[in-house]
Amino acid sequence: MTKWRILDLETAAHPDAHQWVDPVMADAKLFEPIEPNSRLVDPVKVAALFIYLNKTCFNGLYRVNRAGEFNVPIGDYKDPSLFDEDVLRKDAAALKGAIVKQHQFSHMPIVREDFYYLDPPYHKTYDGYNGTGFDDDEHKKLAGYCKELAKAQAHFMLSNSDTPLVRSLYASYHIEVVEASRSVSCKGPQRGKESELIIRNYQ
Ligand SMILES: C[S@@+](CC[C@H](N)C(=O)[O-])C[C@H]1O[C@@H](n2cnc3c(N)ncnc32)[C@H](O)[C@@H]1O
Repeated sequence: MTKWRILDLETAAHPDAHQWVDPVMADAKLFEPIEPNSRLVDPVKVAALFIYLNKTCFNGLYRVNRAGEFNVPIGDYKDPSLFDEDVLRKDAAALKGAIVKQHQFSHMPIVREDFYYLDPPYHKTYDGYNGTGFDDDEHKKLAGYCKELAKAQAHFMLSNSDTPLVRSLYASYHIEVVEASRSVSCKGPQRGKESELIIRNYQ
């Protein structure tokens, strides 16, 4: 399991952050000159470059290839706002003391009465975040995991597409239909408002 400490967003709002990313922005081969994050040790530079990538890549998507390397194409922005100091400071305050872990959902410990928010790759939409996809079987396993959460009297909220499979997997829970904006699809007409489901095992 990979375990990361929250990067220090407070210092990513550092006035020097532009100094590190401006030369990269000026380079036409935008993504190639960036040293892989794994070789960078200064957490401020790692955070600054990560935010820079996120703000300039296609629709703010985070996706890796099978080798675990970031592989999102360049986005189409005229003058992206890179370092919003006010937002970064608020994020830093909200995440103070938090620990972020990355692993399969099935490895997430089930703790009685804890709250779980699950935001999986949506059924029948884009699922290529990590090179392995998320097919119907994965959705069924996720529904099984939610059943275990409910058994342990944990609370869960899950967002997903409004499809017959999702409705049938979660038929015994509260299902609410909401209109949500989608921005990850590369097909323009698929972006915009979509009807989605919010599923909860509590009122
Ligand atoms: C719809 S996105 C969630 C985006 C996230 N809520 C956010 O705001 O950035 C789906 C996420 O599920 C992750 N994912 C895919 N397969 C997974 C698995 N088996 N276990 C845990 N997470 C998985 C993907 O890497 C992706 O980050």
